[in-house]
Amino acid sequence: MNAPVPATAVWDTARIQQDFPILSREVHGKPLVYLDSAATTQRPVSVVEAVRKFDLTHNANVHRGVHLLSQEATQAYEGAREKVRRFLNAASVREILFVRGTTEAINLVSNSFGTSKIGAGDEIVVSSLEHHSNIVPWQMLAERTGAVLRVIPMSDSGDLDQEAYRELLNARTRLVALTHISNALGTVNPVREMIAAAHEHEIPVLVDGAQAVAHTAVDVRELDCDFYAFSGHKLYGPTGIGVLYGREALLEAMPPWQGGGDMIASVSFSGTTYNELPYKFEAGTPNISGAVGLGAAVDYVEALGLEAIAAHEADLLDYLVAQLSKIDCVRLIGEPAVRGGAVSFLIGDVHPHDIGTILDCEGIAIRAGHHCAQPIMERLGIPATARASVGVYNTKADIDSLVAPLPQIAEMFAR
Ligand SMILES: Cc1ncc(COP(=O)(O)O)c(C=O)c1O
Repeated sequence: MNAPVPATAVWDTARIQQDFPILSREVHGKPLVYLDSAATTQRPVSVVEAVRKFDLTHNANVHRGVHLLSQEATQAYEGAREKVRRFLNAASVREILFVRGTTEAINLVSNSFGTSKIGAGDEIVVSSLEHHSNIVPWQMLAERTGAVLRVIPMSDSGDLDQEAYRELLNARTRLVALTHISNALGTVNPVREMIAAAHEHEIPVLVDGAQAVAHTAVDVRELDCDFYAFSGHKLYGPTGIGVLYGREALLEAMPPWQGGGDMIASVSFSGTTYNELPYKFEAGTPNISGAVGLGAAVDYVEALGLEAIAAHEADLLDYLVAQLSKIDCVRLIGEPAVRGGAVSFLIGDVHPHDIGTILDCEGIAIRAGHHCAQPIMERLGIPATARASVGVYNTKADIDSLVAPLPQIAEMFAR
């Protein structure tokens, strides 16, 4: 098993690729070029091995057993929580809730914070750059409570209108729910400034960090956000595990969302009292091995260094944009002021599904579709885009492989 490259080492993508055996497989007889990390990242051997070791030697339920295996499982699970706390620079492990992923994290906030703090006529501000999982839970809450969704508009380049945002904030606004980085256009939102603007009105802010944590260092205290959500599988970790960071005072004041084992202090038919944080929000047996895998993923990216990752990926994205811009028939969709993770594009009138399918035949994996962000497509007047997204293992050669067939695709459909 290869140990992750220490942060001080020179960046060596060939060496990093060895940590990801899946990258050496073939697809349709061609070497795999994986440019779909925004959908899910590949997992390094160290993550797979951490889960395997846990499953084979420590597996037991957590927080319940007096026996050694249960104590070891609890230690591994809580150890992962501490790793995530450090990774996000949260003040306390009480602020780190394990959930299934970003979607569940946002549903938790909308059901618990939302139902207890948001009522008829109150306003929730979301942006036009959101993934469906940061729209639909708020629409559902609005349907239940009579609250109103207000939407921050965006420009054709894919940047949010900051002036319009400030005008939306008012005494009725109860929450701002905002993506850190857009999965569809790659826009990096100025979240720190937007949080500060909301806080001037004492409005809490939830940040959807699904597309951010693998690409940039996130410090929840420096951002001063109130909630921060992310998914393990977009951070080189397992599926089915994610994190909701919540400011302790807010989480304390929020009612539990789901009821069951582990989230209680005592249960009687005359009344139930709830467990302390973070367990109040972790009903039932959690995804223990998933948390262990997430802890290993955090170790992996920290060993590479978030700054080094950001520099590597910025270089790749600049190259990708430059190469795509050289091809006449290619149109970039979204040219945000600051870009992270992904580039969307179209080729003439060719449907993105056709682009994705033809590239797949060449072993090149990209995403084609609306990227669970249909309001962005509606705003830009297109049904879908082709999206290439990068991770630590990608190279300029991967981008050359992606770009090379594009003129032929244009020609093929022009006939
Ligand atoms: C910005 C953003 N938010 C939320 C999600 C949902 O993440 P998950 O499906 O892991 O819950 C995604 C997934 O693509 C995303 O890109």
